[in-house]
Amino acid sequence: MTIMRPALASLLRRTPFAATSAVLFVLSACTTTTGRTPAPLTTSGSTPTARVATGDGDRSAVRTPDARMERFVDSVLAGLTLEEKLGQLTQYRGQFGLTGPQTPEAGAVDIRAGRVGSFLGVVGAAVTREMQRVAVEESRAKIPVLFAHDVVHGFRTIFPVPLAEASSWDPAAVQRAARIAAAEGAANGLHWTFAPMVDIARDPRWGRVVEGSGEDPYLGSVMAAARVRGYQGNDLRDSLALIASVKHFVGYGAAEGGRDYNTTDIPARTLREIYLPPFQAAVNAGARSVMASFNEIDGVPMHANRALIDGVLRDRWGWDGILVSDYTGVMELLNHGIGGDTATVGRLALDAGIDVDMVSKIYFSYLPAEVRAGRLPLAAVDSAVRRVLRVKYEMGLFADPYHHSSEARERALTLSPAYVAEARDMARRSIVLLKNSGGALPLSKSLGTLAVIGTLADDARSALGNWAAVGRPEDAVTILAGIRQAVGSRTRILYAQGAPVDSADTTGFAQAVRIARQADAVVLVLGEHQDMSAEARNRASLDLPGVQLQLAQAVVATGKPVVVILENGRPLSIPWLADHVPAILETWYLGVQMGPAVADVLFGDANPGGKLPVSFPRTVGQVPVYYNHKNTGRPPDERERYTSKYLDVPWTPQWAFGHGLSYTTFAYEPPTLSATQLTMGDSVVVRVALTNTGTRAGDEVVQLYVRDDVGRVTRPVKMLRGFERVSLTPGERRTVSFTLRPRDLAFYDLDMRHVVEPGTFTVYVGGSSVDVREARFRVTGTTMVVPDRGLIP
Ligand code: NOJ
Repeated sequence: MTIMRPALASLLRRTPFAATSAVLFVLSACTTTTGRTPAPLTTSGSTPTARVATGDGDRSAVRTPDARMERFVDSVLAGLTLEEKLGQLTQYRGQFGLTGPQTPEAGAVDIRAGRVGSFLGVVGAAVTREMQRVAVEESRAKIPVLFAHDVVHGFRTIFPVPLAEASSWDPAAVQRAARIAAAEGAANGLHWTFAPMVDIARDPRWGRVVEGSGEDPYLGSVMAAARVRGYQGNDLRDSLALIASVKHFVGYGAAEGGRDYNTTDIPARTLREIYLPPFQAAVNAGARSVMASFNEIDGVPMHANRALIDGVLRDRWGWDGILVSDYTGVMELLNHGIGGDTATVGRLALDAGIDVDMVSKIYFSYLPAEVRAGRLPLAAVDSAVRRVLRVKYEMGLFADPYHHSSEARERALTLSPAYVAEARDMARRSIVLLKNSGGALPLSKSLGTLAVIGTLADDARSALGNWAAVGRPEDAVTILAGIRQAVGSRTRILYAQGAPVDSADTTGFAQAVRIARQADAVVLVLGEHQDMSAEARNRASLDLPGVQLQLAQAVVATGKPVVVILENGRPLSIPWLADHVPAILETWYLGVQMGPAVADVLFGDANPGGKLPVSFPRTVGQVPVYYNHKNTGRPPDERERYTSKYLDVPWTPQWAFGHGLSYTTFAYEPPTLSATQLTMGDSVVVRVALTNTGTRAGDEVVQLYVRDDVGRVTRPVKMLRGFERVSLTPGERRTVSFTLRPRDLAFYDLDMRHVVEPGTFTVYVGGSSVDVREARFRVTGTTMVVPDRGLIP
């Protein structure tokens, strides 16, 4: 069977496939600023106040046109009825986790009738192959369907949750993890993942903080690009690639009060400088799909936000991929109070640039009549269909609609030992050592008796975290099991739950205290279970839920050495633990290899090197607390009454963005600059040497921040503009260099021009946003307009 126009056969040659090797292939180096060659920005033209850079402007996502693809897509489009066109724009919900070989009959009927272009949540090589067969053999138009699913941090081999992976500050490892997730998902019949989630989150009450990369647009941009490259690989025609859908466009993380789906209030400059950059980085990296967000911005719900979708994504950035609605997002315009009736909201969404209607079925049911009545131009429908067909073509589906559905690959790759080993490595890299007084960690493997306390220590489902695709608890090794495996018979392990995660039940305290008393040391696992973060899982408190704090107090009162392992989906406010427990490890949810990875770090087989991608408040009342804040006219000063601070808690976070310790120590030398006087348009190289001054090999994440000291609008006290995770043996000294280019210094001025202004800039380099050494340079000349091609062009 072939549905391909013969003349096009030669253009659709697929990349040869080699199952297991293909997914462990060497990944192209990730973008970091280290070692960049300084390059002055080309400039020309001038106005009295500003020079303007030449080039493509902000259109950073423009792709080379492919005339043959366009001809092919046009020929397919020309053969479609209006209903079939709208069918291409319609996404049906499958049954989540459906893996059997039977085609859901309703699905088959709709495919045959041309009413559906893609499915959400149908997985499995056999079932997707059969549904594809119906599409390409039994439907009139014979257009392959796409199978989509949320492959967020692994498909079956579950990796650390995205916030944890971001804590690794290791984009190459994050890219590898996404590559594996894509390979497994693709081998199970999928074409499209609804990831990466790149929403900036400054409010940890919001449950979805766990799905992103934290509070910073630069770190978020690096991670977004790494994940897109991982999911999509080098070529979408590779049968192990997935289309990446970067989400949720845009501002979703700014939900007021941390309440998911809530209204946002985002100034235009903040939108551009904080919330948009990770999206631009993702589309620059080639993301072929973007998902709209549920929130509104300045009175316009994103599912009807033409200015941001058509205006920014498509026109300003030049992106031409598929814009998919979020789940029933088109229908929800009715609740937003936009449109007033179903047909109108469908029209508004399509007109705003939403190509695919996920689950609402409004496009298919209502838009044919709107087009026929002349209320919706056919051209708008055609443009959206073209975008869908292009991506199907780019995936090679017109050449081989089945190339993602191979039962042999599914068997070979799913939960393969190589993937599980990668998951353990990623998990180790993701752990952050928050505190380690007196070298409490690592623990010795030959302790006589070790007490492990906490429900989460033995909770396999929670180890996987939320959005665990088809991950199964039985695949996960818990912390308790990991510790047991690590110590073998040398150490006696006693276990007690102590307290449930989120109830007031204290009946287990007595047993917990009893085993603590019998032990030489205690590992206390505290936090949130996996269903306390992610979508619609918001909390008004950031304290440890239930009676876990009281449990901790009872255990610490035994006087035994206590190590706390935090397992949670958001920063928690834990001042008592911070003050009273000598060692605290933040592990988030680490996936199938959570236990072994935690044990590796607990006993010193791995040295933690992760850093926080998000600030830890002392109390929920400080929220929002983030490192890249403004200075204000009255910066906080504990000695001055009339400054910006609190009566009852310090104004600083418990642990700052970028914080993370190691079992070794690193000494930084003062940074040096390639020049301290720069002409407008020049770049500057920042060099910093550091030495491992301890006795163990370890990783340090060297961080570069910059501050524009004076601007026509106020600037943040620090902005991350580079980082590198380096491994150093004891005594080893390394120089790390970063290049700061004009785009790294630019901001949106009073007239919303993206500019660099002359003046001084302070550079900060160090191991966290607060542990830094500084240097300063001056830029002379006139203000220069710089294209906004994102933080990672
Ligand atoms: C709703 C969520 O907001 C989105 O992130 C997800 O991709 C879709 N549901 C599909 O599961």
